[in-house]
Amino acid sequence: MNLPIRPRRNRKSAALRNLVRETELTAGHLIYPIFIHAGKDDQPIVSMPGCTRWSLDGLVKEAGEAHTLGIPAVVLFPAIADQLKTCDCEEAWNPDGLVPSAIKALKAAYPSLMVITDIALDPYNADGHDGLVADDGRILNDETVVALRKQALCHAKAGADVVAPSDMMDGRIAAIRESLDMEGFTEVSILSYAAKYASAYYGPFRGALDSAPRSGDKKTYQMDPANAREAEREAKLDEAEGADILMVKPATPYLDIIHRLRQITSLPIAAYHVSGEYLMIKSAAASGWIDERKIVLETLTGIRRAGADMILTYYANDAAGWL
Ligand code: PBG
Repeated sequence: MNLPIRPRRNRKSAALRNLVRETELTAGHLIYPIFIHAGKDDQPIVSMPGCTRWSLDGLVKEAGEAHTLGIPAVVLFPAIADQLKTCDCEEAWNPDGLVPSAIKALKAAYPSLMVITDIALDPYNADGHDGLVADDGRILNDETVVALRKQALCHAKAGADVVAPSDMMDGRIAAIRESLDMEGFTEVSILSYAAKYASAYYGPFRGALDSAPRSGDKKTYQMDPANAREAEREAKLDEAEGADILMVKPATPYLDIIHRLRQITSLPIAAYHVSGEYLMIKSAAASGWIDERKIVLETLTGIRRAGADMILTYYANDAAGWL
């Protein structure tokens, strides 16, 4: 054939493929979400095989491994004892609570490991919702934002580097920024769950924390999976309110959203490869149906290629080891 243009020439050797590779995936792009509880034992999580609800000692060991592997940050998710769950969620800003203790333990052990905390009321809420629930079942926006301010401040005081509001209340980014700044925490960053969808992919996570809503669903605050323009609206608002990083969640079913936000903001973008995405790979791999390592690395590369600067994934330690 008379073919002067042959794209295959750029794939002819590993050396050339390395030179022309457009997307990089390294441990430095990964953030490791870790589950913790107040007990002394490390409990395997039934709904998420391969994941553990760590004691504080177990957390320090597990985070140490992540740190050694070159992972820059962890996010903490607490399983709160039933007797501490209330309708006003006061445990969420208890300075001696589980999350503040975990932050202090981690920062003492590894000052250079970034600690990110989730800001939302669901682990502490007798109703299992991210926001305060009125008698008639409505989720109260402005009252919740007051609570989230206290929670964010409590985590900042304990030493959190980044707070990550995942609640999807309106106006919470500006309110949290104001509270942090008023108390002198101008260096604490806000990683905003800007486009968080009402997704069935969170099911295994809610099992891990026993945090499923006791009634109703999260559709009045989390976004409709059918909407993309609305994600732009949320992202622009969070940017204007002072977010430092914008997040899209889940990741793989929403690669178009990651790509869209990449076009309209100069802020860094995070993507959350959530529990259901993790479990689908885990279970298929456990049956021997897929090559876990290759599928995970291809998936994470795809999320990066779509435009994510960083990825939260339960596969962080495994992937960092494989890379
Ligand atoms: C709660 C929260 C959820 C996740 C992170 N923070 C669940 C939810 O919104 O119901 C899900 C993470 C995952 O599925 O891995 N604020």
